[in-house]
Amino acid sequence: MSTQPAISILLTSKFPTVASELLTNAGFTITSWEEERPMTSTELLEQAASHNALLCTLTDSIDSQFLNQCSHLDIISQFAVGYDNIDVTEATKLGIPIGFTPNAMNDATADIAFGLMIATARKMFYSHKTIITGDWGFFKPTANLGIELKGKTLGIYGLGRIGLEMARRCKGAYQMKVIYHNRRHNQMAEQELNANKVSFGELLARSDVLSVHCSLTDETRGIFNKSVFDQMKQNSIFINTSRGSVHNEKDLIAALDAGQIWGAGLDVTNPEPMKPDNPLLSMANVSILPHIGSATVEARDEMARLAAENIIEFYKHNAVPFIVNAEVLVEKGTS
Ligand code: DGY
Repeated sequence: MSTQPAISILLTSKFPTVASELLTNAGFTITSWEEERPMTSTELLEQAASHNALLCTLTDSIDSQFLNQCSHLDIISQFAVGYDNIDVTEATKLGIPIGFTPNAMNDATADIAFGLMIATARKMFYSHKTIITGDWGFFKPTANLGIELKGKTLGIYGLGRIGLEMARRCKGAYQMKVIYHNRRHNQMAEQELNANKVSFGELLARSDVLSVHCSLTDETRGIFNKSVFDQMKQNSIFINTSRGSVHNEKDLIAALDAGQIWGAGLDVTNPEPMKPDNPLLSMANVSILPHIGSATVEARDEMARLAAENIIEFYKHNAVPFIVNAEVLVEKGTS
């Protein structure tokens, strides 16, 4: 297959310009959604109907209905490492390859997890708010006390590339012991950081900081619920930078209210955006960010480059460098 000027790519958002530059230079025609809001399902469907491929992101619902109505799409290239907005099983049935952008945001997201851990341990977001509300009173020896992290135990749920970077930061800065719960061993973490793979129950019972880095699947959806928070240490901090649906928000609020866990740092919520009157926002031991894990110039440029390259390589060489459902290309005999 050779690059045809007639091939048109729909960019569903304003991505870093590197994406459109690479695609245009490679000879594709591009249409970019310029509004400051995600496309609605109807808009996405209408626009995708007249394009050959999609460069999309996590706010686009690429569900079974969309895929069946847009089964003409040659490739869907996701600008994200997570792809829970895409029905990959259906795409695979329809023979549509799904590209994604792993690794690009490992450091950026680990920085946010690490930052949330410190901010929560020292009640930074809440303390900042007290200045704005005029509540910075006298120095009080027993007020606003946080907890220290040195030598504590970091538990990682889903130790992959981002979790490894979080563990490196915690080990380097605070000599934290690292335990993790995964299906498979992470040899690099075990050799480099002396990390120990433990059962889920042991992870909950031993972690002083429990940081979630798994992807959202049927298995992980809502896994951090009441019965799980009940098994965590009372002075522990829960960090989630993966997907908001991994924790049950009502149960998290109840666990914090009851002092069942000490604090929480979230870069992801369910739903997103979080409503401004959400009770979590006024809790002293909670730090919340609006899903900015990958929001650095470096990470977003690299994500845009990878997402564009997945499309270019597909049309030029019948290969997708970062693909979720490689079996599609194997079945087509094009891998
Ligand atoms: C991802 O890549 O999945 C991130 O959540 C986007 O910031």
